[in-house]
Amino acid sequence: MALTAGLSLLTLLALQAAAQEPLYVEIGKNLNLDPKSSETITAITWKHKGNIAAEYIKDNVPLEYLGDLKGRLKLDVTTGILTISNITKSDDGQFTVEVNNRVLPVKFNVVGVKKLVTVEVILRPLTCESETHNCTLSCGEDFKDAEPVQYFWKTGETEEWKEGEKTIRIFSEEEKKLGLRTFTCKAKNKFSEKQSGPLVNPFKNKESSGLSGGAVAGIVIIIILLIVAGGFIYWKFIYVKKNEGFASPRQGDGVKANGDESRALNMPEPGKDANSEL
Ligand SMILES: *[C@@H]1O[C@H](CO)[C@@H](O)[C@H](O)[C@H]1NC(C)=O
Ligand SMILES: *[C@@H]1O[C@H](CO)[C@@H](O)[C@H](O)[C@H]1NC(C)=O
Repeated sequence: MALTAGLSLLTLLALQAAAQEPLYVEIGKNLNLDPKSSETITAITWKHKGNIAAEYIKDNVPLEYLGDLKGRLKLDVTTGILTISNITKSDDGQFTVEVNNRVLPVKFNVVGVKKLVTVEVILRPLTCESETHNCTLSCGEDFKDAEPVQYFWKTGETEEWKEGEKTIRIFSEEEKKLGLRTFTCKAKNKFSEKQSGPLVNPFKNKESSGLSGGAVAGIVIIIILLIVAGGFIYWKFIYVKKNEGFASPRQGDGVKANGDESRALNMPEPGKDANSEL
């Protein structure tokens, strides 16, 4: 007798523990809540977070829906199954059911979950480079309404996925030793899984551009070209103009003649301007 009572208590506890588990539903989908009642239903009341959402009492209260969910509910009064269509995040919370004036032990802890759309590795700070001691890599933005989310990271192209945190920290010193490796992450929730593209180690990236022979040669060539171009521009627009415009007092006779010539050439200018204005 005592043993039977003990066992049924255990069963009840196990049922309750199971009932506390969240019931994950994809947002936008429909959900059927089945009370699995073995009795013939004469009265049924469904509650959401303690408030009546649907109620029916045979020969007494016609089937009616109440509250925020009204319009998206459908109750089968024979089976007791409540259907909620187009689940939203605000439908989160506990649903309980009362059949023939008795609260059933079953409880539905609904949690709406959004599907993941895109995932990318986000580097912080943005200026993460060789001089920065450490940087963080985050797998995606804030996945609001998509929780719970699991994260996996992979370094390099051939390595295995390893489950980890949303955000990992990488250290300049360590990464420089490990060489050019990439970081790729994967986010997974109840209804979807998305993988990022590979992010190249930011420390190594900056470092390698400084070391590469080709890059150095390229920079040297660009600098030489800039000097040549600068010299040409100086000669063409500043040096030549200066010598055409007027003579420096320190310059010799030959240059002075040059200066006189340009002054002579400049003389008709005002007159020409006046003519053209008239
Ligand atoms: C589902 O709900 C969302 C907003 O809550 C709405 O934009 C959408 O049109 C609904 N879909 C259907 C099929 O009713
Ligand atoms: C990461 O670097 C910052 C400075 O850039 C420093 O304050 C912080 O302590 C470092 N974190 C770790 C875990 O070394």
